[in-house]
Amino acid sequence: MHYQDIYERSISDPEGFWRQEAARLDWFKAPETILSRDDQGFDRWFAGGQLNMAHLALDHHIDHGRGEQTAVIHDSPVTGRQRHITYRELRDEVARFAGGLRALGVECGDRVVIYMPMVPETLVAMLACARLGAIHSVVFGGFQPHELAVRIDDARPRALITASCGIEVSRILPYKPLVDEALQACDCPPAATVVLQRPECEAAMQVNNATTRDFDWHRVMADASPVDPVAVDATHPLYILYTSGTTGKPKGVVRDTGGYAVALNFSMDAVYNLDPGDVFWTASDVGWVVGHSYIVYAPLIHGCTTVVYEGKPVRTPDAGAFWRVIAEHRVKTFFTAPTAFRAVRKEDPDAAMMAGYDLSCLKAVYLAGERLDPPTYGWIKAITGLPVIDHWWQTETGWAIAANPMGIEPHREKSGSAALPVPGYQIAILDSDGSPQPAGTQGNIALRLPLPPGCLPTLWEDDDRFRYSYLNAFPGYYDTSDGGYIDEDGYLFVMGRMDDVINVAGHRLSTGEMEELIGHHPAVAECAVIGIADELKGEVPMGFVVLKEGQTIDPAVLENAVMDVIRTQIGAIANLQAVAVVDKLPKTRSGKILRKSIRQLSQERDVAVPATIEDPSSLEEIREALETVRVSRYAR
Ligand code: COA
Ligand code: AMP
Repeated sequence: MHYQDIYERSISDPEGFWRQEAARLDWFKAPETILSRDDQGFDRWFAGGQLNMAHLALDHHIDHGRGEQTAVIHDSPVTGRQRHITYRELRDEVARFAGGLRALGVECGDRVVIYMPMVPETLVAMLACARLGAIHSVVFGGFQPHELAVRIDDARPRALITASCGIEVSRILPYKPLVDEALQACDCPPAATVVLQRPECEAAMQVNNATTRDFDWHRVMADASPVDPVAVDATHPLYILYTSGTTGKPKGVVRDTGGYAVALNFSMDAVYNLDPGDVFWTASDVGWVVGHSYIVYAPLIHGCTTVVYEGKPVRTPDAGAFWRVIAEHRVKTFFTAPTAFRAVRKEDPDAAMMAGYDLSCLKAVYLAGERLDPPTYGWIKAITGLPVIDHWWQTETGWAIAANPMGIEPHREKSGSAALPVPGYQIAILDSDGSPQPAGTQGNIALRLPLPPGCLPTLWEDDDRFRYSYLNAFPGYYDTSDGGYIDEDGYLFVMGRMDDVINVAGHRLSTGEMEELIGHHPAVAECAVIGIADELKGEVPMGFVVLKEGQTIDPAVLENAVMDVIRTQIGAIANLQAVAVVDKLPKTRSGKILRKSIRQLSQERDVAVPATIEDPSSLEEIREALETVRVSRYAR
């Protein structure tokens, strides 16, 4: 069957299409209803069907003869360790840890926050939650206590699972003090914290605290009895994953169980062209959606081997790391963010470090997380000679919205384009009034409802925010907040965010949140943060600050203080580059900061002065500040 036939069937008969896909999974109770509406009027897939994600990912394969196949390869250059875990071993660990969580009071529907590095125990923790029907919420290990505390308070977990440390290249980062600080700061600390002690760093345990108590991972395991998977409804939340919105409060994206399982399984064939037994490596972090979907759930549901890599593209030990792992573990499909390849190219522009590795196993390279810029696309293509697939998606969708459908019918690659809509998604380009735009015209990228299985049904305990963030702008559509165009051949070009979210080295961050944090500095009257272009990281944030009346703080002192706030409140990944003090910010006459004009000025010297601007000279000051930063960054 051709892509066009499959795509058209997915749109003209979504229920028939997804019923057939659902039938490929091992349900405890097969769904009779395929698409329905819940009491909030939101679309739901497979309501009434019953299944368990850990059963699909583990027990099902053992029942079908894959028990001795490697499920997980942990490759950790930062510790010098490697571990291969079979499906049977992983199932046994997961079943036992689920028993341990149950003994700590965790039951179906309870939330569990997971703050862990890239170790197999992170997958065990996630799958153990899934086995119980508990809802996990993984928080990226690069986030600081403030971010962790905000998420804990929103999810109100019964337990938290962490490790004594993460390792960044050769730096040991103790996690437990960060967790303790977050628990001190939050209003709803969980009663139990399970700590995986790593040999690199022993965490001090709290056993006598009245509100919260620490438990050793190995002790919990040793005392536990394995448990069987709990049958949950298809609409039962598998996880909450917090992602940056335009304010300081992150959005709790809810992922259901049945729709997600069906969508991921479909994607492994249609998008990634993988068969059971194949080795799939996603070099990302389990803390991001890419990690949830393509390090953990999709490869395991599909019976593949997944590589869990605890290292960097460079410096662990060098820019040959990708090629070493691919060759050593016979990786068939490799997926990472463009920024990772930019880091490799910077160190090894001629890809000399590929030499000596047998890369014949590798069949395709997938990129996502940010736009695959044409120079990076061209470089990867030239050095690998393989299909290089840019595919576009978001935490909210959980899987690709647009891609080159390698498993159905590969198409011509176009540099700069994420190619075609994946079956199930109807992509539209709309102007600000919601009118569809002709080919080649830029606009808001929206998805016609219903969204296919796997996409978010709502935000955690915030249906209203779900409505106004995604559904209200264009009735009948989901607003992606990305902008771009579709060309004459139907290829999608995603050009960037239309809101105050930026993408720093593939990490999605909120400039609104940074503004809130900077605004707390006693010298600051108001501020604006935008993303400026960066050769390596794609974008990095820069702040513009207006001082309070009478303040005489040295701008360099203020800059250091503000950078420190962002680093200690959000994390080093935020990479705030510069803070410029200006007399005034460009504003409309009604007092709204013209962030769009500041953004435009960072991209081009001359921008049209908006008719609504209060004082056109304010733009000149921003232009000068940007120029100063550009010169100093160039000189570095
Ligand atoms: N825990 C603690 N700190 C972390 C961290 C983590 N998990 N990840 C990054 N950091 C720190 C780094 O150590 C660095 O600290 P420093 O400023 O003190 O040196 C800082 O955050 C900036 O990190 P980053 O911008 O990520 O640069 P890097 O050189 O460490 O890594 C990449 C470069 C390309 C490997 C990395 O940015 C990356 O993997 N990006 C892809 C993200 C991704 O997978 N997104 C999902 C879509 S696919
Ligand atoms: P996240 O939710 O962290 O996965 O970030 C999603 C955002 O990253 C999207 O809304 C886009 O702005 C950007 N993004 C992800 N993948 C791509 C891609 N292939 N091309 C362009 N932008 C992308």
